[in-house]
Amino acid sequence: MTDKELVLKAIDAMKNSYSPYSNFKVGAALLTENGTVYTGCNIENVAFSPTVCAERVAFFKAISENEKSFLKIAVVGGKNGIISSSTPPCGVCRQVMREFCSDDFEILIVRENENYDKVLLKDLLPHSFKPEILAK
Ligand code: THU
Repeated sequence: MTDKELVLKAIDAMKNSYSPYSNFKVGAALLTENGTVYTGCNIENVAFSPTVCAERVAFFKAISENEKSFLKIAVVGGKNGIISSSTPPCGVCRQVMREFCSDDFEILIVRENENYDKVLLKDLLPHSFKPEILAK
């Protein structure tokens, strides 16, 4: 699975976004160590706070299937599904990523024309509160 293929899966997942309140569609594609891809889209709710981001949907799908090891995630979003700028993961999603991934987990943040920036989790969430701290 190339990075580009993962990006295309995230773009495809964006089409399933349920976002009638923001009209901001987000897709994510999470690659496991054994090569399986779990996709997610944002799912909004009339009460707003039950809304979940695409990244967490992808992670929770994977965790619920007993996946434990993750390599990278591609994230893409845009108003009405039009990718005009990058959609970096929100703070809550960064914290969820740190629960299941190391500091070197890769995040492909998609820009226009299927281009992307590759960043590491440690750069998105420095000085993280991580499972290793409670394990001491
Ligand atoms: N959203 C995501 O799905 N992922 C992010 O990392 C940023 C925000 C969603 C939540 C909401 O449905 C919409 O984008 C607008 O905030």
